[in-house]
Amino acid sequence: MLSDHKTDGYAKLSEQTFSRYARIVNPVLRTFAIEHTAMTVSFMTMIALRRNLDFESARIAALLHDAGKFDLNEGSARHAAAGALRAEELLSESGCFSQSQIDSICEAIRLHSSKDQIDSPLAEALKDADVLASWAVHPDDPLSQVRQKRLEKTCAELNIPLQTPSAKK
Ligand SMILES: [Fe+2]
Repeated sequence: MLSDHKTDGYAKLSEQTFSRYARIVNPVLRTFAIEHTAMTVSFMTMIALRRNLDFESARIAALLHDAGKFDLNEGSARHAAAGALRAEELLSESGCFSQSQIDSICEAIRLHSSKDQIDSPLAEALKDADVLASWAVHPDDPLSQVRQKRLEKTCAELNIPLQTPSAKK
């Protein structure tokens, strides 16, 4: 039941994170930051429930996963590692989380670009949620083989039809 899940830490960080992203000056980047982050949190919520993962850690990992990109302007190559450091700072400052929870969230963020390898259940869930979030916004964009495999596996797991509304036209 959703009422059994702890969400206080998430609620605090969510308010802070979306407020920061709402102040991104470039309108295209601002919309992308908010839309992609909200979408990743949504898919991560479904995956966490399906795979019985720590609900709060899963949602926070999704919330902060691209902080390296959106808070620090890091490009693709460095954004995961930079985002993990940024998340560590934000989670420690909040005072809401145990060190082991912080470590597992930051590890998932640090590894989330490595879509071709298998890591912890939390990191795997984050990679899958990230792939689904990008696909949901741009369903017709071509995907690498690794991303396509993750997309198909996770859609089957969540019972989401892969045929998008645009493909049905
Ligand atoms: Fe992402």
